[in-house]
Amino acid sequence: MKHAPAPVQEAAASVLDHAAFHARRYRNGRPPLHPSADAEELRRLFDRGLPEQGRDPFDVIDDLVNAAEPGLVGNTQAGFFAWVMGGSHPAGVAADWLTSAWGQNAAIHQCSPAAATAEEVAAKWLLELLDLPRESSVGFTTGATMAGFICLAAARGEVLRRLGFDLDEAGLQDVPRVNIFISEEAHASNFAVLRYLGFGERNFVRIPTDDQGVLDHAALAAALKRETGPGIIVCQAGHINSGAFDPFEPLADLAARHGSWLHIDGAFGLWARTVPEMKAQCRGVERAHSWAVDGHKWLQVPYDSGFAIVRDADAHRRAMDITAGYLSHDAQDGRNPTHFGPELSRRARGFAVWAMLQALGRQGIAEMVRSHHQCARAIAEHLADTPGIRVENAVCLNQVVLSFHGESATGSASGHHADAVAAALNETGRFFFRTADWRGRRVLRVSVIGHATDVASAISAAEAIEAAWKKIAC
Ligand SMILES: Cc1ncc(COP(=O)(O)O)c(C=O)c1O
Repeated sequence: MKHAPAPVQEAAASVLDHAAFHARRYRNGRPPLHPSADAEELRRLFDRGLPEQGRDPFDVIDDLVNAAEPGLVGNTQAGFFAWVMGGSHPAGVAADWLTSAWGQNAAIHQCSPAAATAEEVAAKWLLELLDLPRESSVGFTTGATMAGFICLAAARGEVLRRLGFDLDEAGLQDVPRVNIFISEEAHASNFAVLRYLGFGERNFVRIPTDDQGVLDHAALAAALKRETGPGIIVCQAGHINSGAFDPFEPLADLAARHGSWLHIDGAFGLWARTVPEMKAQCRGVERAHSWAVDGHKWLQVPYDSGFAIVRDADAHRRAMDITAGYLSHDAQDGRNPTHFGPELSRRARGFAVWAMLQALGRQGIAEMVRSHHQCARAIAEHLADTPGIRVENAVCLNQVVLSFHGESATGSASGHHADAVAAALNETGRFFFRTADWRGRRVLRVSVIGHATDVASAISAAEAIEAAWKKIAC
């Protein structure tokens, strides 16, 4: 059947145009970094009452804009350094609009051959770009948390299957205990998904780290020797505070020696593999069994987007497959998205990923990651010699951790100077910063990852941090 473009239906398109107008106005108008309304005000704006009769969609969209904009956070803008969050690149946003307009359900191939094929092709490109084993399967998820859930579900099933236990048959009650060797500085989402998978404290063997949050592989070696039973090792590419990488070569050697599954949480750090001169930091990553990565971080896909990558596609599929008589699959069909994630009906996430990979290309992605690394280094170098400021991490990626020491003229309690600095910076409206507790210290955590941030904006942030601290310090 030949495809002929359908005539544009003006009436249906007009509310979409109206939304596009608001979107353009928002994005082109340098929106504020900070919300202007508090929770009570937002509740009042949104809670107009549930109408008995439907309303004009134009008015509804106007009311939505009026209610939402005072509560939006400007993470699409330069000046946002608060969390490791991407900036929703316009090309990804445009593809995401189409995803909604097309209304596709990426459950099975036959629900949307286009959605399934976009995922299939984008998955292939992702494996090339991140240089991971090409035979791996890829699930398109809401983020790295769900990606970790999928990868670790595959790991759980496979380490038990190798011992002759079929989880589908036995459930979790009658199987040997699985040891989870996990960095004590693993991102919190890993502990959460392990809980969802039926693991608890008794399964966790927490492995100590150094002062950068890097897993101590000698301690892991000792733990693996000590414990008996099947094992899953969870490590990370890109520590949430320091950006540091675990030592993957020795970890992969240990996993191989002990027959353990090696999982890597590479939510943002795995993107360092796209930059030739940064790739050495992740040497050995490719020897793992599974990887969790985000699309809504360095790929700048609009929220939400993540990837569960599993070397053993059969283990992946065994963990996630949903079958039912009405979920038809013909021999000539392509990828069935639901084989690779727990959802059946879901958003066609592959379109925006496909669009971002095309819009940035291999070079564009590498240049962005490289530039954000340079931004982080520029901030650290600018502040390194400022009295009272200490750069707490070796800046190997995009994260800068700053602590502040000495007497305060403003009376901010010792140990809480970082909060005072963040508050002063946020008050200017030019920046959005957040603090964190790390290794017993209150720190200003600077994350450079939005596509709008360049070296000039990073340097002006560093100058502002210095000026804010000088005002606070005696
Ligand atoms: C290292 C790491 N792992 C996991 C996550 C969770 O990812 P998501 O919020 O996309 O689910 C994050 C989020 O920042 C992260 O930085």
